[in-house]
Amino acid sequence: MDGKRVIYAALLGLGTVGTGVYKVLKMQEDEMAQKIGAVVKVKKVMVRSVQKAAEKLKDASLVTNDWQEIINDPEIEVVIEVMGGIHPAKEYILEALNAGKNVVTANKDLVAEEGHRLLEAAAEHRADFLFEAAVAGGIPIIRPLKQCLAGNHITEVMGIMNGTTNFILTKMSEEGMEFADALKMAQDLGYAEADPTADVEGYDAGRKLAILASIAFNSRVVFSNVYTEGITKITATDIRYAQEMGCTIKLLGVAKNSGDGIEVHVHPMLIESNHPLAAVRDSYNAVFVHGDAVQDAMFFGRGAGELPTASAIVGDVFDVVRNSLAGCNGRIGCTCYKRLPIRQMEDIQSRYFVRMQVEDRYGVLASVASVFGNNSVSIAQMVQKKKKGELAEIVVITDSVMERHFQDSLKVLGSMSVIREISSIIRVY
Ligand code: NDP
Ligand code: HSE
Repeated sequence: MDGKRVIYAALLGLGTVGTGVYKVLKMQEDEMAQKIGAVVKVKKVMVRSVQKAAEKLKDASLVTNDWQEIINDPEIEVVIEVMGGIHPAKEYILEALNAGKNVVTANKDLVAEEGHRLLEAAAEHRADFLFEAAVAGGIPIIRPLKQCLAGNHITEVMGIMNGTTNFILTKMSEEGMEFADALKMAQDLGYAEADPTADVEGYDAGRKLAILASIAFNSRVVFSNVYTEGITKITATDIRYAQEMGCTIKLLGVAKNSGDGIEVHVHPMLIESNHPLAAVRDSYNAVFVHGDAVQDAMFFGRGAGELPTASAIVGDVFDVVRNSLAGCNGRIGCTCYKRLPIRQMEDIQSRYFVRMQVEDRYGVLASVASVFGNNSVSIAQMVQKKKKGELAEIVVITDSVMERHFQDSLKVLGSMSVIREISSIIRVY
């Protein structure tokens, strides 16, 4: 080891990501000393099922289910939390930071809710608390926002932030796959959360967006501030209509700082097929950032999976090691020094695609148009698409309108007997 210092780490969790971290550290073993000036060794791996992990690692001596073996070991300087969930991850991380250990995590659920408390504990004990893997898997985005783009006032962060839903939408639109089959594939590939509801309902992307918005706008945004809609209502018919209109459906997260407050929302959107985000397929993610100096920057890469996520975690671990060698752990802490208000969703402007089943008789198209008009919703396109028995299908695309006005229109349309069903409502980018 050429007399290089050994830094001991503990891994909490040996699932998809934990296994990836173990592998990537092994892949780096030969070069690590030259690269970062020390060798990182995993001293303990904590799991619930000890036997399963011991078989996987072919080394039972590494595995424990007892947190005390880690927290009470003064040799362990870095705790890598890849168990997921709020409890007991939060308690373990706090105990580790309070004991002066550095922590690296991929846990967006926890960071989106309690990130500020954990960063406070890290600052108090001059420890690193790093979470690059918590947003967009392997894509470097936390460190670029905190460091490389620190010379900007950032006004917008948006993009595709969930690998599972992007994978599902890609499979549905390109291969005509059913939602459930595509979800099963995403689970088998290790992209989905333990409970995939978080992915398909947009909560996972919402948590990542809260983390990104907090860092980009220097003001705390938590998950409960984010409006979320998932992809479970997107049908094959919606995808076909989108394609006919030269569009693709993507689950997008959008955060803007417009001066009078922050808007943060996650929902499916129709996006023109020649837009760069439309080309982001499979489990890939992409994040756009707009700043007053850099103008536009886009970050693209694998948003989920074993090795891509481990890549981000090992990058953080190497940063911790470099800081430890330089005696400057805890150098970059919480950057939320502003208190900006969060804008209500009803005050936000959007374009909408609405598909509805109506009675096929004279005057219906005109009455639909007048409901939108009476509620200050301007129509960009309106077509009667086809007839099914006594019913006709109307598709409306609005101009950019206030959400509140659009919702008022929907209330009226929903109460009209000639409108049998409002089949889909999707925002348009
Ligand atoms: P998995 O479900 O595959 O693995 C979880 C691991 O943690 C298992 O080894 C499990 O042990 C262990 N574990 C869970 N709870 C406890 C506990 N209370 N005590 C001890 N061990 C525990 O999850 P992933 O690897 O997919 O995800 C881990 C984290 O990384 C999550 O926060 C997730 O959101 C995040 N993440 C995941 C990505 C991905 O692509 N999968 C990408 C980016 C972030 P056992 O098997 O014995 O129960
Ligand atoms: N479940 C998440 C996703 C993992 O699909 O994007 C990466 O954060």
